[in-house]
Parts: sequence; structure tokens; C-alpha cells
Amino acid sequence: MKRCTSALLQRTFSVQPVTRYRCRTYTVLAQRIEQIKTRPEPFPLQHEPLVKSRPDPYTIVAPELLHLRGSLLGLLGSAHPGLSEIARYYFLHPSKQLRSLVVLLFSRATNGLGGNWEQKRWGAEREASTGLSEELDRPLTLPDVLNNWHPSMPNDTASFETPFDLRPPGMHRVPDSPPPPATRNQSLPQLTSPPLLLPVQIRLAQIMEMIHIASLLHDDVIDSCTFEAEPPEGFGNKLSILGGDFLLGRASAALSRLGESEVVELVAGVISNLVEGEMMRMKCVRTPGLGQLEGPQSLEEAWSAYLKKTYLKTASLLAKSARAAVVLGGCREGEIWKDVAYAYGRNIGIAYQLVEDTLDYEAGSTNPMPGLATGPAIYASEEHSELLQLMRRNFGDQGDVELAIDYVRRSSGVERTRLLARTYANKARDVLRSLPDSDTKIALDVLTDHVVNRTW
Ligand code: FPP
Ligand code: MG
Repeated sequence: MKRCTSALLQRTFSVQPVTRYRCRTYTVLAQRIEQIKTRPEPFPLQHEPLVKSRPDPYTIVAPELLHLRGSLLGLLGSAHPGLSEIARYYFLHPSKQLRSLVVLLFSRATNGLGGNWEQKRWGAEREASTGLSEELDRPLTLPDVLNNWHPSMPNDTASFETPFDLRPPGMHRVPDSPPPPATRNQSLPQLTSPPLLLPVQIRLAQIMEMIHIASLLHDDVIDSCTFEAEPPEGFGNKLSILGGDFLLGRASAALSRLGESEVVELVAGVISNLVEGEMMRMKCVRTPGLGQLEGPQSLEEAWSAYLKKTYLKTASLLAKSARAAVVLGGCREGEIWKDVAYAYGRNIGIAYQLVEDTLDYEAGSTNPMPGLATGPAIYASEEHSELLQLMRRNFGDQGDVELAIDYVRRSSGVERTRLLARTYANKARDVLRSLPDSDTKIALDVLTDHVVNRTW
């Protein structure tokens, strides 16, 4: 499932305004959301079958998904048209939106349960009533990028000719009075009714998409290199790197406005995990201390490295996103909700990547590349022991990749990897049992089916 970013970015900016989304793989689900845009009513109630169908995860939060895509552009605006263009491309033409979906659904499935929920809700309502909520949506840059942290400076480059004058600090804002203590008169925690999402949770969904897309932009550059110390070449790679960095910058600024240090730590951890996962995946990583890393020497080592990489590169983002959503909803230490969210995200994330790795072996895919062996090849090595040799050198010799593809296609590796994905999806489903019943809980269950049955 190759994406097309760098090369197309290059065409977009250097030749003509090619709309890059033409060659983006749209999922059926993404199209469904596009269609909703043109409908006056958000839910297709007209043709409801007699047997009530299970709620669709995308439909249940469709208004929020539309809102978060729309408002992202304001958040991402940049003084440079190239960077704004990257942002527009990705966020107006999304594909799976899996990260946003998990954040929104987990927020909806748990809001009301946490000990600090009432305070969180009070805070959000108070901000809305006093106009403070605009603070969250304030553009992350002012029209003049040269003085956006010192608004009294003149809006021109000449202001850099004089030293930067300091002014005595003034009173910027009257401090907020503390929220009233949470009152709980029920013995069992209950979900909010009707379901409610906090603005900070919607913003978290946007932040996680930004980070995901930053990693895809950087991944395209890595994929286009040989890993053999060739520097990234060309305008496409440069713009991809800068675009990714820009998104990380914007995501960090938006993150700080959520006002929750636990969430900052979780999200920062996701970024380092992505990098660690990517390092593990590469054919060879040369470091001054470690030299060249070799591939796994046994089947056991291969599984261990593969699952670790899968967590770091894919599942960590989903696990920590879900956990962060629940933290923003007021769930406290000692309550089960944070762990439920993390476990669901981790299991569904591993299932997702296992399926992704099977798609690499489909006819026509050019994806299997030198690097750490994935599920299909590890399983296949039980049937074709010759594969172990190739795995030990991370498929680094001439012709290794082609040989490996052949062995995998003549084995049950792909089917067994799909079965393993199903096992992780079932674990995610089991975890949901701890949540109170709701349509969102069912939608999260349905999402596990989407992840393992997908062909996109
Ligand atoms: C796509 O997987 C790649 C990722 C999900 C992560 C890539 C991570 C980095 C490049 C580290 C840098 C991170 C940040 C936050 C800037 P894939 O290569 O299997 O998918 P593909 O087949 O579509 O290329
Ligand atoms: Mg890649």
C-alpha cells in the first residue's frame, strides 16, 4: 500500500497544481464521510433495516470528524504557501482517520466516568461562556510571523535593526478561580447523557493526525533513500522533511494549550516511539557505538523484535492517544479507564499493523523492502527454513527481497498473520467489556472488525 507524497509534492510545487489526492487511496469509509457533507441530515435514517444494525464508528462521530478537519486548516496556517499546501492536501483529503476516530470514540465512551469529569466539564462550559474557549482555537501564528510573540513590535523587517526592547510585564489575564469540587452522589460512575465531547478532546484528535502525517512525510523520505548514507535528494524530499517538521511544531503548540502535562508526556512519548520503531525497521542502522545492527538470529528473536517494532511504530500512537483522551475527560489515577483505553489502542494498533504487513505481499505491491522481517515472512520461515538466513541479514543482499516474496507466497504466512491480527483484535474487543454499555462501545467493537477485515 504505497502512498505517494514526495514525488507528487514535487510536481505540485514545481510544475503545475496537480491535485495530489487523485492518486491517494480513498477508503470506502472516507467516502462515506464525504457523502455526509452533502446531506442535510447527518445519519442515514431513511433506510434503517428492521433488525437494528450496529452503529458505524465513522457515522457516530461524523459531525466531529468534519469539524476537526475543517478547523485544522486555521490551526496550520503558515506564512509559507508550500507548507499550507501540504496541510491542505492531507487534511482536506483524509484517508482512514483511524487516529482521530479512536480519540473521539474513546472520549465518547468514557466521558462522565472519571472522578474529575465534573470539573473538566465545568471548565469547558465556563470557558465557552466567558469566551475563553477561543483561546484554544486562536491561530497558532499571527499574520506576521516575525513578531508573533511581541505584538507591540512594528510589522516589518526593519524592526530587527534595533535591539529588542523589553517592557515590564503587565497583567495579561485575571487568574481563573478554581472549579468547584467534584460532587458524586452516585455510587457507580455513569456516562454523560447525551454523549458529550470536550473541545480539548477534539483538539487532541487533530494533534494525533498531525503527528501521524508528519511521520508519513518523513517516512517517504526514508523510503526513497537507500539507507546507505545517501542524503535525501531533490525538492520533494526537502519539502517533505520541512512539512513534517512544521506539523510537529504546530502539534506541539496546540498540545501545550490542552493544559495537561500528563497528556504532553504521553504525546511526546509517541513521537520518540515512532522514531525508535522506524530505526528498528531499517535494513541497517549504523551508529558510532553499535556499528551495523544485524537481523534477528532465531525465530524467537524475530518475533520479539517484530512485535516491539510494531508497537513502537504503530500501536503506541493509538494506545497513547486513547489514554490521553481519557485523561482529558477527567479520569484519574487508580481508576480503570486509562488502562482500558491504552489496552484497546495497543491491541487494535498491533492488529492494524499486522494486516498492513499482509497487504505488502499482495500481488502488485512493491512494498516488501530490506529491513526487519514482518509476520508473513517469520511464519513462512517455519515452512521454508532458508528464509531464516535472509532474515538474519535483514534481506540486505542482492535478490533477498525477491526470494523472500517467493517463499512467503508459497507458504501460509499471510493467512497466519491475518489470524494473528484477529487474535489482537479480539483482545481489544475483550478489553471493551469493562466499559458501560453504550452505542459508542458497540462502535468501538465494530471498529475492530473494520481493522481486521479491511483490504485498504
Ligand atoms: C509508515 O509505515 C511509517 C510510520 C507509521 C512511521 C514512520 C516514522 C518515522 C519516519 C519517524 C519520524 C517520526 C516523526 C514523528 C516525524 P510504512 O513504512 O510501513 O508504510 P508505507 O508502506 O506506506 O511506507
Ligand atoms: Mg514506508
